Amino acid sequence: MNRTVIIAIDGPGASGKGTLARRLAAHLGYAYLDTGAMYRAVALQMLQAGADPADAQAALVAAQNLDTRLIDDRQLRTDRVGEAASRVAAHEDVRQALMVFQRSFATNPPGKSPGAVLDGRDIGTVICPDAQVKLFVTASPEARAHRRYTELGARGEAASEAKVLAELQVRDARDQTRSVAPLRAAPDAVILDTTDMAIDAAFAAALSAVAGKIASNGEPDL
Ligand code: CDP
Repeated sequence: MNRTVIIAIDGPGASGKGTLARRLAAHLGYAYLDTGAMYRAVALQMLQAGADPADAQAALVAAQNLDTRLIDDRQLRTDRVGEAASRVAAHEDVRQALMVFQRSFATNPPGKSPGAVLDGRDIGTVICPDAQVKLFVTASPEARAHRRYTELGARGEAASEAKVLAELQVRDARDQTRSVAPLRAAPDAVILDTTDMAIDAAFAAALSAVAGKIASNGEPDL
C-alpha cells in the first residue's frame, strides 16, 4: 500500500510559503494545513481572554482547549496576533499539544487525500522529519516586509514599511533563536529563494522541486 505523500514547507514570515502551499495542495489534490494559523488561534484566544502570551501555563490551557472557530476569525491575520503567536509558539508544551493534531493530519489527511501539504516553521525538522518532499521558502527581509506591508494595506491596516520590516526582523530572530523547534531548513530541504520571483514563477519552481523529489524517491508519479 502506498503511504501518504507529505510535503513539508517551512520558512520565515511573508516568504510566500502559505500561498505556495495552498496552490500546491489545490494543484495536486492534497489536503492542506496552515500550522501558523493554529499558533495564531491559540494567541487570539489568549488575547481575547486578557491572558499574557508569555504565560506558559495559560498558553497550554488555551492550546488544549482551542476553539477552532477562531481559525476563521477576522482578527487572525493581524500583526498583533502574529506577534503574540510567535510568543506562544516558544512554549514547548504548546508545541507538543499542537503536534499531535499536525502529525495525524499529515499521516491521515482528511477526505482520504493521497497527500498532505503542511506549512510552518518546523514541519520538515520536527513534525514530519520523514516527509518525502521538504521545501524551505525564503526571501530577503526587505522583500518580505514589502509583501507584508502590501497585504496589510489591502486589509486597511495602516503601517509604515519601515515599521513592518522592524517587526518582521524581531519575529524572525525570536523564531530562529528559541530553544524548542527553532526556524531552520532541514538538511534535506530544497531551498527556494523567492526574493526576485513573482508568485507564478515561485509556484512553477516549487512544483518542479516537488516533482523532482517524488521521482527520485520512487513514489508514484503526480
Ligand atoms: O504570518 P507569518 O507567515 O509570519 O506567520 P504564521 O505562519 O502565521 O505563524 C505565526 C507564528 O507562529 C510564527 O511567527 C511562529 O512563531 C509560529 N509558528 C511556529 O512556531 N511553528 C509553526 N509550525 C508555525 C508557526
